[in-house]
Amino acid sequence: MAAAMSAAMAVVFSVLLVLSPVLVEGNPGLDLLEAIKGHQRLHRFHQALVTTGFSNGLNNAVNAKPTTIFAPVDDAVDTATATYSVSWDCLTQENAGKAALKETLKHHVVEGAFHTLWNLTKTNQVIPADGFPIEAMFDKATHVVILDGYVHVVEPEAIVMENAIVHLIDGVIVTESNYAQMVDVCGQAQPSASPSLGFASGL
Ligand SMILES: *[C@@H]1O[C@H](CO)[C@@H](O)[C@H](O)[C@H]1NC(C)=O
Repeated sequence: MAAAMSAAMAVVFSVLLVLSPVLVEGNPGLDLLEAIKGHQRLHRFHQALVTTGFSNGLNNAVNAKPTTIFAPVDDAVDTATATYSVSWDCLTQENAGKAALKETLKHHVVEGAFHTLWNLTKTNQVIPADGFPIEAMFDKATHVVILDGYVHVVEPEAIVMENAIVHLIDGVIVTESNYAQMVDVCGQAQPSASPSLGFASGL
């Protein structure tokens, strides 16, 4: 009798397991967004995620698969907007500005890959969500990972969570087309600054 009962229950349990769509515990995407929100050096990055709505895309990505995020620290964002002569208020408030900023954010998120620092030291290239590859280089002299030759991983593995790893970087990584888009919609006239020079020299 007892044996028959537990056999019947085992059947019920395996049916439940098959039907259950939940693959991860809790909501790692929201946990990550909370961690970014609470981070001392990521106020601008968090503001950008929320105002562009890319926080939803990131949330979904992290809930579905491992994700690596290269997050520019606040100082880096301020330096980049000053160097490229683009208005942060425009990027975070105007519709066209937000669209451009969202493209920038996509360039900082690698979906489907959990790149630890060790992994990055062995990796030559990562493909972020916008599809434009970023070159990675490990500088053996300084022991720093450098992205596209001008952005440094200044605090590797600053946030490590289920399905998400965040590295802090000291610059904003922009593609040429995204840079042109940002200047086009949110550029502030500054005759002395050559766009190509600003782009080539990074920060
Ligand atoms: C680094 O991580 C990527 C993505 O998870 C993986 O495809 C690659 O094989 C890893 N490289 C090394 C050297 O472990």
